[in-house]
Amino acid sequence: MSIDYKKEIKKILKTIAFGSKGIVGLDIGLSSVKIASIEKKGDEYHLLGFSKVSLPEGAIIEDEIQKPEEISEAIRQAGEEIGADGLNCCLGISGPNTVARKLQLAGGTDDEIEDQVLWEAEQYLPFDIEDSTVDYHFVGENEGGGVDVIVAAAKNDVIANFKELVEAAGGTVKIADLGILAVTNVFEFVMGDKLNNPEESYLLLDIGAQKTFFIIYKDGMIVFTKEVNIGGVMITEEIQRQMGVNYYEAEDLKLTGDDNGNLPEEILEIIDDVVETFFSEIKKAIDFYISSTSDESLAYCVVTGGSSLIPGLLEGLEALLGVDVSVLNPFDAIQYKEKDFTEEEINQIAYTGVQAIGLGMRQP
Ligand SMILES: Nc1ncnc2c1ncn2[C@@H]1O[C@H](COP(=O)(O)OP(=O)(O)OP(=O)(O)O)[C@@H](O)[C@H]1O
Ligand SMILES: [Mg+2]
Repeated sequence: MSIDYKKEIKKILKTIAFGSKGIVGLDIGLSSVKIASIEKKGDEYHLLGFSKVSLPEGAIIEDEIQKPEEISEAIRQAGEEIGADGLNCCLGISGPNTVARKLQLAGGTDDEIEDQVLWEAEQYLPFDIEDSTVDYHFVGENEGGGVDVIVAAAKNDVIANFKELVEAAGGTVKIADLGILAVTNVFEFVMGDKLNNPEESYLLLDIGAQKTFFIIYKDGMIVFTKEVNIGGVMITEEIQRQMGVNYYEAEDLKLTGDDNGNLPEEILEIIDDVVETFFSEIKKAIDFYISSTSDESLAYCVVTGGSSLIPGLLEGLEALLGVDVSVLNPFDAIQYKEKDFTEEEINQIAYTGVQAIGLGMRQP
């Protein structure tokens, strides 16, 4: 029996419309679970609350859930901390069994566009369309008179596995969205008019613990995305290996250094070595993009994620890319009440909270 894809798409859209009230953004990363509660007031977004609960070593390895009970417990705690009523969430999904891609379509009625999305998706998805969920966002009309869309797809079992974790924590997944799209939403909202020049392209990097989202944005839309397998845990593991300490001690050494808060030479050397790998992977991704699109208009780069705090990373990226690199500050555009957060919390959230914020901003 063949699956009625159209019905599938409608079903997803219905879930989105239904779940839009009172939802929080939930980001399950390798190092921690993060929840952001966002309120939309007119054109403004307000951060009402944010919570973050660390995960134990190896809770998720290469996008495979290894420690479901610990992850659910962290989700439960994070929900409790934020006081989320019922923990209805927009869940971020990522990994090799997900795809976000821009498509140029011929256009037409909604039904015709849906047909074109499914036809195209079937051609390029690296997994079977029959076992996956496909959704799309309109971007706008293109020069050829057709429409541009961003197609988001994920394998059903990936969504189901993460849903189970949330349900075991007493929560409900109202919407699932791709982490890459959530991060890009914040980027668009924060950068605003700075993204308007159609002759320029921009690189957005979310450098986390196990992976880096690599996103090229041009002329009002995502034109290329890739998940690159680099992240801060590679440094942690190297510290463990070279210094004979455990994961938690290594993480601590990386973040706080010695008793005086200085990073010892040994650690700095490890960081420099691993960061070289980061740069060569980012270079590969950018070279691939340039050779497949002939687009050489990169104008600047914006970074987020906890590992963008690695000493020397921004300077190294600037040298590698030959453009200015800056850190995405969600609070350039997103409001919050100063009495609700300490300065240190806001600083932490600014670096590691962007995906959860983008998920929390999600509207139907
Ligand atoms: N000051 C710092 N210096 C170096 N690394 C840091 C610093 N602060 C945080 N990190 C690193 O950032 C990583 C956590 O960042 P983030 O929360 O963005 O990742 P994640 O979302 O959990 O992971 P992923 O998205 O890869 O699943 C950890 O590897 C942590 O060691
Ligand atoms: Mg992350």
